[in-house]
Amino acid sequence: MKQLIYTSIESHHITFDEIEEIIKIAITENYKHNITGMLIYNGIYFLQVIEGDEVSVLQLFENLKKDLRHKDINILDLRTIEQRDFENWNMGAITDLKSITEVIFKVNGSYTFIPLHYNYEEALEILKKLTHLL
Ligand SMILES: Cc1cc2nc3c(=O)[nH]c(=O)nc-3n(C[C@H](O)[C@H](O)[C@H](O)COP(=O)(O)O)c2cc1C
Repeated sequence: MKQLIYTSIESHHITFDEIEEIIKIAITENYKHNITGMLIYNGIYFLQVIEGDEVSVLQLFENLKKDLRHKDINILDLRTIEQRDFENWNMGAITDLKSITEVIFKVNGSYTFIPLHYNYEEALEILKKLTHLL
């Protein structure tokens, strides 16, 4: 099984309705392909983890790269895992800035959420801690 974490930046300002739509489709599609994961959006940046079998993860990532709603897609890593970290969520999503900021502060002592600066371990820790709010 594979786990992939990437960051990206919105291409234009994403409205509340658009993010709701992305999350809704993600949950439905991921359920079909047995993908689990978590998405954070703070109004500018995305940080997402996706996990599942290799073919499904890579196929989804191809779709994500083509999606014009975000840009500057940067893979933190693609790793082989024995067990899922996000097994309960076809796509857990946190878009509440206050919650994100609090968790970021606990993990790396900064209030600024700039996912490009995180390494895989930090990103994974943030994503896992945020599941506690779901
Ligand atoms: C930030 C972001 C996260 C997304 N996450 C997912 C996801 O987890 N699963 C998914 O199927 N689509 C997700 N999408 C939508 C895909 O990019 C794509 O639109 C979807 O897979 C449908 O692709 P298709 O129209 O080529 O079939 C996401 C889009 C964005 C912008």
